[in-house]
Amino acid sequence: MKTLVVELGARSYPIYIGAGLLEQDEPLAGHVAGRRVLVVTNETVAPLYLDKVTARLERFAPVAVVLPDGEQYKTLADLNRIFDALLGQRLDRRTTLVALGGGVVGDMTGFAAAIYQRGVSFIQIPTTLLAQVDSSVGGKTGVNHPLGKNMIGAFHQPRCVVIDIDTLNTLPDKELSAGLAEVIKYGLIRDTEFFGWLESNVDRLLARDPETLGFAIERSCRNKAAVVAADEMERGQRALLNLGHTFGHAIETGMGYGSWLHGEAVAAGMVVAAELSRRLGWLGAKDAARVGALLRRAHLPTQVPAGLGADRMLELMSVDKKVEDGQLRLILLKGIGDAVIRSDVPRAAIVEALDFCGAGG
Ligand code: NAD
Ligand code: GLY
Repeated sequence: MKTLVVELGARSYPIYIGAGLLEQDEPLAGHVAGRRVLVVTNETVAPLYLDKVTARLERFAPVAVVLPDGEQYKTLADLNRIFDALLGQRLDRRTTLVALGGGVVGDMTGFAAAIYQRGVSFIQIPTTLLAQVDSSVGGKTGVNHPLGKNMIGAFHQPRCVVIDIDTLNTLPDKELSAGLAEVIKYGLIRDTEFFGWLESNVDRLLARDPETLGFAIERSCRNKAAVVAADEMERGQRALLNLGHTFGHAIETGMGYGSWLHGEAVAAGMVVAAELSRRLGWLGAKDAARVGALLRRAHLPTQVPAGLGADRMLELMSVDKKVEDGQLRLILLKGIGDAVIRSDVPRAAIVEALDFCGAGG
């Protein structure tokens, strides 16, 4: 087992990465605060892993709430199912919530923990690659609004993150690829060497070679932990983690939540960001081509859906959380491993890049 630490002073916490971690009581049980546990999961993950997790937590008399599966249920209305369970079981402030599932379950459980009785503890057990490398680390929690992705939320850090790599054995191929989008993102924004390693190892990752997956997860978590430790509340450089996300969130909202996977939308968004960076003269043509090539090899989409169109994309992007004082801020690339935040990109250049990447039909 590898242990990394997200350094946040009094709120620092460990990330445990290894195979078979759900077969042993520690480290999970040792991080429960209080006497009771509520495990939040969904209807797909529950039959696979819920019994294992409750067995580890028996001494905390665990109860479970099983949510419907899907991004379309990441809503304020569905969040109430967690509060119904907490209040129905008379669970008090000394309860720990455990998120067992992908990013949807993790974001909803974390948000429920942030606001239930003004805040209780929670633990992340991410079971998708995307959640293991990204959403379970860093304390961003929340739900979607029909007008914008992740628009209702809070920062609330978990007490620990337990990553059992074995859970990836049951993950559908399409979901594995979606997770690879976020892995590739770390290479693009701050880790040139890792990007090169991914170019050499993407086939082994798709074949689920455990050692290769373990390395990619650890390296991704190291990158994420470093960024979060430097800028927990996203006052500056944490925004770099959103490379491709402004375009990606517009695709997710525009196509209807659950229609495109988050990682798929981010992949297409990173291609638009690379193309825009090339048009602005910052990224060389060869490097822009490497971005699309690696994403394609990871079986990810590299085109914006034609049905949306550049104008609709820009309208959807105007409700992004990175919009400040009406100014759209974009994450762009000055090279592979070198991302920047810019708020001075001409609208015409964005439209041209979107059209070039498929939005023009
Ligand atoms: P997801 O939670 O919808 O999970 C994907 C699918 O895999 C679901 O059908 C789920 O039931 C299933 N699943 C989960 N684990 C499985 C397993 N081990 N075996 C078989 N099936 C399994 O999607 P996701 O890609 O994990 O997360 C996407 C969400 O995460 C989005 O809502 C996105 O906004 C959010 N996100 C949040 C952050 C953050 O910092 N908080 C970062 C990135 C993404
Ligand atoms: N996924 C973006 C962030 O955690 O900041």
